[in-house]
Amino acid sequence: MSKENKEENNVKNIDTDTFTITDNKTGETIVMPGTTGAMGNRLIDIRSLFGKTGLLTYDPGFTSTAACKSDITYIDGNQGILLHRGYSIDELANQSDYMETCYLLLYGDLPTPEQKEAFDNDIKHHTMLHEQLTKFLSGFMRSAHPMAIMVGVVGALSAFYHDKMDITDNDERRLAAHRIIAKMPTIGAYAFKYSLGLPFPMPQNSLSYSENLLKMMFANPAEDYEINPVLAKAIDRLLILHADHEQNASTSTVRLAGSSGANPYACVASGIASLWGPAHGGANEAVLKMLEEIGSAKNIQKYIKKAQDPDDKFRLMGFGHRVYKSYDPRAAVMRESCHDVLRVLGVNDPKLELAMELERIALEDPYFIEKKLYPNVDFYSGIIMSAMGFPTSMFTVMFAIGRTVGWISHWKEMLNDNEQKIGRPRQLYLGEQQRSYIPIERRGHTDRRTGWSWLWGGKK
Ligand code: ACO
Repeated sequence: MSKENKEENNVKNIDTDTFTITDNKTGETIVMPGTTGAMGNRLIDIRSLFGKTGLLTYDPGFTSTAACKSDITYIDGNQGILLHRGYSIDELANQSDYMETCYLLLYGDLPTPEQKEAFDNDIKHHTMLHEQLTKFLSGFMRSAHPMAIMVGVVGALSAFYHDKMDITDNDERRLAAHRIIAKMPTIGAYAFKYSLGLPFPMPQNSLSYSENLLKMMFANPAEDYEINPVLAKAIDRLLILHADHEQNASTSTVRLAGSSGANPYACVASGIASLWGPAHGGANEAVLKMLEEIGSAKNIQKYIKKAQDPDDKFRLMGFGHRVYKSYDPRAAVMRESCHDVLRVLGVNDPKLELAMELERIALEDPYFIEKKLYPNVDFYSGIIMSAMGFPTSMFTVMFAIGRTVGWISHWKEMLNDNEQKIGRPRQLYLGEQQRSYIPIERRGHTDRRTGWSWLWGGKK
């Protein structure tokens, strides 16, 4: 390896090697440094490629591109391993609680009892919303999708906490991080209550994060509310299972938005927008809709066939993952939780039986086996939330509440990374080459009846 390449390769935990890339048009070669993180795949460090050669790489959807370094989460998609700061998701879901997992993700290690107490307390003291924000919230239509409300209200937090905010100051970053984690359950519960025409509930500091969330969502202000510990535990697990998942679409969106130095609340709002889509966090809502559409086990084969038909847009929602090419380890825990919740609530949900049968058939089907499509976390989370009484539109809100700590931990990590630059991908340009402007009177005529659709890729 050349001295120059060695100097370039300053990624930590390096097990260095090099790659020689040959341009078969010119015969020229260039040596690029290789690197490996603490665990995982080898990488080619192409940062100097463009500067040295004028060459770009083409990678839509970033299927082969690491856009940043991170210490937070490790995934081995082939073996179904998910570690947060080195701890397996299975151990965290079974032995930790959400507040502790938040601390771990944000600060890198499990807290001591004193650190845990201080963290819990600080979060509890930021749960309330500014009264003015509730007025803003009341401007939405009652029928608005709660994710639309989440995008708007979390984005609006930036209007409350912007002028005095200095994101280069660690104390201010901490305050923003704790505030947003603390306020998400309140905002989520308000979005839910608003759609029902019920008064906004007050958070209660004597309760744990998940108990408070459960109570704000379901307590009737005219009645006493008794916290069911099994349901509070299920909520806590659900939040842990959604807390982080390295560079997924929404987290990458938060990083990209944050890379320009934008306000952190606005960055988290951009993550919520990205999460909403059915290919990402919106899949839990889509799973329930799909199960309703399938209706009964006798229709499963028909839908399995539809999912395999390249001319049919239907996909088996809750199946497949960009990274996992085996069982999503979160889905395994969620499956267990799902049974606990249904047992405690005494719910005999035919959708669960349908989901089990669908899972069984899909896992034995050659198409799903060949493409390594396994159930993901969203496959079971919707059934749990539905049994608890959440409407489908609230599923992704719960995901967003859990994922907020992941987004904000990555935002924090990115700001501390001195190699991080503003995100600015390049492109493969396929448009017209330079041409001369033609005045409108010399452009000929079109049939007015053709409308707009053909301009958007529809039929002429
Ligand atoms: N049903 C049927 N076929 C599928 C499915 C599915 N759920 N998922 C992938 N495939 C097929 C694709 O058609 C494609 O086939 P091809 O090779 O013949 O073109 C192949 O499997 C690979 O799929 P891609 O879409 O290229 O894989 P990618 O990694 O880009 O997509 C994704 C991953 C978006 C999650 C996809 O599997 C999907 O749409 N799943 C359903 C939605 C879902 O459950 N999303 C939640 C993800 S988890 C989360 O966000 C928490």
